[in-house]
Amino acid sequence: MSYGRAGTSEVRETRTGERRVTLTVNGERRVVEVEPRLLLAHLLREGLSLRGTHLGCDTTNCGACTVLLDGEPVKSCTMLAVQADGHEVTTVEGLGTPGELDPVQEGFSREHGLQCGFCTAGMMLTARALLDRVPDPSEEDVRWALSGNLCRCTGYQNIVKAVLWAADQERTS
Ligand code: FES
Ligand code: FES
Repeated sequence: MSYGRAGTSEVRETRTGERRVTLTVNGERRVVEVEPRLLLAHLLREGLSLRGTHLGCDTTNCGACTVLLDGEPVKSCTMLAVQADGHEVTTVEGLGTPGELDPVQEGFSREHGLQCGFCTAGMMLTARALLDRVPDPSEEDVRWALSGNLCRCTGYQNIVKAVLWAADQERTS
């Protein structure tokens, strides 16, 4: 398995059976050579050192591994890295910056939408996709959108409040 940035000489020779995949991750075009069986979650975490994407189950249940693929939430433990070829992936590292948080991140902070934080990256990316699609969601919309993301700590109340806070903020700013 080898990884590099497009347009550089970092990409090594492809070993027999590996596939060259070109994708954009958090705005940066990347060229990677991977085994066909490699999961997208493992490419992100181990190949590209983007460890904000968590693995909580490996069975498509928990949503901790959620990233955005062309703006839509996907569970990266259930997708092969080769399936991301030609697509744009956003991880939590690409959601905002310490100096300029995404409103969803700010909402989670203000409304205490996290405790241990294990589920938080997946929750925030799912919420980001919802707000991009539905700028004025109801509480039910938020709960439905987040129904594929499990949290073992918070009881969900503050997560929902955080997303509604972000929606309100985006509509009024
Ligand atoms: S690790 Fe992907 S859904 Fe749990
Ligand atoms: S904050 Fe701990 S799992 Fe959600």
